[in-house]
Amino acid sequence: MTTYAQELRANAKTMVSAGKGILAMDESNGTCNKRFEALGIPTTENSRRDYRELILTTPNLSDYISGPILYDETIRQSTKAGVPILQVIKDAGMLPGIKVDTGAKEFAGHPGEKVTEGLDGLAERIAEYYKMGARFAKWRAVITIGDRIPSRACIEANAHGLARYAALCQAGGLVPIVEPEVLIDGAHSLEKCFQVTDETLHAVFHQLYMQGVAYDQMILKPSMVVPGKDSGESVSVAAVAEATIRCLLKNVPAPVAGIAFLSGGQTKEDSSAHLNEMNQQFGEQCPWPVTFSYARAIQQPALDHWAGDSSRVAAAQQKLLHRAKCNSLASQGAYSSDLEKQLALV
Ligand code: G3H
Repeated sequence: MTTYAQELRANAKTMVSAGKGILAMDESNGTCNKRFEALGIPTTENSRRDYRELILTTPNLSDYISGPILYDETIRQSTKAGVPILQVIKDAGMLPGIKVDTGAKEFAGHPGEKVTEGLDGLAERIAEYYKMGARFAKWRAVITIGDRIPSRACIEANAHGLARYAALCQAGGLVPIVEPEVLIDGAHSLEKCFQVTDETLHAVFHQLYMQGVAYDQMILKPSMVVPGKDSGESVSVAAVAEATIRCLLKNVPAPVAGIAFLSGGQTKEDSSAHLNEMNQQFGEQCPWPVTFSYARAIQQPALDHWAGDSSRVAAAQQKLLHRAKCNSLASQGAYSSDLEKQLALV
């Protein structure tokens, strides 16, 4: 047991408390710039600050969001008026989180596969982030489905990295969000996605167990079990929810503090409908809260509307809040597509 055990347990619970999810806004400068370029927004540090300030100053955001995941640049920034971003988060009653991996890189000897880096110096970075006020962290591993991939080597290397990261976080007072993302890219079937997610989660929990990670002091951020985006397979909301929950129940120990899904390139409506169905149909069978940690499925409509125009900040914030509210409802099994439309009109 680490010296932080009690605090970690309490913070993990807070992150997935009823009706709340986590807002991923930790895009690296490269990814953020790509999204800005698509909308003609200048790719400068100040633009990225303005956008992140827009998100975090959204009135009532904390009604639906327990905490944001930040990127290193953002956690060190202040608002235009000079208030530290961390203070804005604290004043809103949210917990600040930080992305600590340094990205998914080519996996040597395994064409088409990636391994996530960032373990060197991680203990020191965690200590610095904790001192600044961060209380949770994220590390994303990606598993690609394709011709004869993923390899066992890729799954094992990523699972090992995730567990080393998680153990270091718990030793340093940050709740680890463990994110093994099986990518939606490709033409694979729902069944294939199930098999790969099953094998990945099994390997991840084996490594977490071996490395002594405390399950009740961590959050799992998985992808949903869906067919590849180029598969042409059309599956029902019920089928996605059933396959995803079956895979989780098979692999995720009951003490895990919570499940917070990524949206992974699904439409915003699908992301909400799938989460809602899981809670509505299977909520009582799940030993852990099942909620969201979305980026695109919450942010995209707000980013599209803002597009760098300061006169649109308030309207963009309403769009962000709307998506946060829809997903909050989905995490309680109370979302519907009618509600999505009605709420958008408010
Ligand atoms: O690492 C991925 C993000 O935290 C989640 O992003 O919801 O857009 O897939 P997404």
